[in-house]
Amino acid sequence: MGPELTKKERCMLDGECGEGKQQAMEILLALAKIYGAKGMVPVTSAQISGVSYKTIGDAGLEYLQDLAARGTKVEIPACLNPIGMDSEDWEGMNVPEQFAEKQLAILKAYVSMGAKPTCTCTPYLAGVRPKAGEHIAWAESSAVIFANSVLGARTNREGGPSALCAAICGVTPNYGMHLEENRVADLIVKVDAPLQDRSDFGVLGAIAGGVARGRAVAFRGIKKAGEDELKYLGAAMAAFGSNSLFFMKGITPEWRVRDGAEEMAVGGVEMGRMRKSLDSGPEQDIITTGCPHASLAEIKEIAGMVKGRKLKKPLWVCVSRVVKEVAAKRGLEKVISDAGGRLVADTCMVVSPMEEMGYRSTGVNSAKAVKYLPTMCGQKVHFSRLGELLEFEGGKGKKVGKR
Ligand code: F3S
Repeated sequence: MGPELTKKERCMLDGECGEGKQQAMEILLALAKIYGAKGMVPVTSAQISGVSYKTIGDAGLEYLQDLAARGTKVEIPACLNPIGMDSEDWEGMNVPEQFAEKQLAILKAYVSMGAKPTCTCTPYLAGVRPKAGEHIAWAESSAVIFANSVLGARTNREGGPSALCAAICGVTPNYGMHLEENRVADLIVKVDAPLQDRSDFGVLGAIAGGVARGRAVAFRGIKKAGEDELKYLGAAMAAFGSNSLFFMKGITPEWRVRDGAEEMAVGGVEMGRMRKSLDSGPEQDIITTGCPHASLAEIKEIAGMVKGRKLKKPLWVCVSRVVKEVAAKRGLEKVISDAGGRLVADTCMVVSPMEEMGYRSTGVNSAKAVKYLPTMCGQKVHFSRLGELLEFEGGKGKKVGKR
């Protein structure tokens, strides 16, 4: 027997709510059949990936324009992943004009369907913050694992099209992470190494993700971790192992471990080995941080590190527009721009055309960025702690801060 549909879902499928909704419901139903879902579950928000012109190209743009032209609208709050540039300052970023025109057209199509141009991988820092137990349909992998693990919300790792369909219909197939019986760890990771900063959490995530390969992970031995640290951990797990869920004893809202789960230990030796393997050497034309997008607390910390100094290399701090505006009001943006850096909103080092802007090597403190910068942007990547990446006129940054 196939998935059961409600009356409303059946109406959408029959085309009574318009062609766009019909097409979206057909896709959701096909996915439900593939994954063995018994039906759909209503979702309170959708987060849509596939927004950068760099990733979806002309074919994606035409598809979205066609959908929008047929009057298709989203049914629930829908927000967008980063685009390929700062929508208000793309010229300042040296983004080629032809790229910018296409990117703005993509944004226009989404907005005309009712999506919010949040353009961030951290919607939970930009006003879209689901509660524990809430069902959502999010696509960005780092946001998916954060929502499941840190917020206790429920989402599968949607693709861009399936998240868009969920936004249009207000439902998603009820399988995987939506069902409590699947929210159980099959791998226990015992951590016996000091985690000094966010980059260490990324290193740990790369190790755990690589071993877990999609299985939920339960971490033991970590005494303290704030949201920013968990954000870096989850982003790396998702990038290196396609993980969507982790638990941390005493820190995350859920903790479920399967009897007989595999166990592994991570100590200083494993951490050092992974850290070394992520770094391709000290060259850096530019330093980028905010992968996932930076929180206000991170920006405050960076402002403290660069205050009153002059950076030798360009610095991008990637953020959502919402957070950038707050940082501007608090004077933090000015401190960073006076030092020669910039808060780059709406985009990031991976989805912007960095290679077309003349950059060949990038310094980062995010393990996730290490994973994608070489393939997506042709970059050689220097991975280190932020305090060690920052170089100033008249001296290095090491003494200024350890992050
Ligand atoms: Fe976000 Fe871009 Fe990193 S989308 S998670 S800043 S690769």
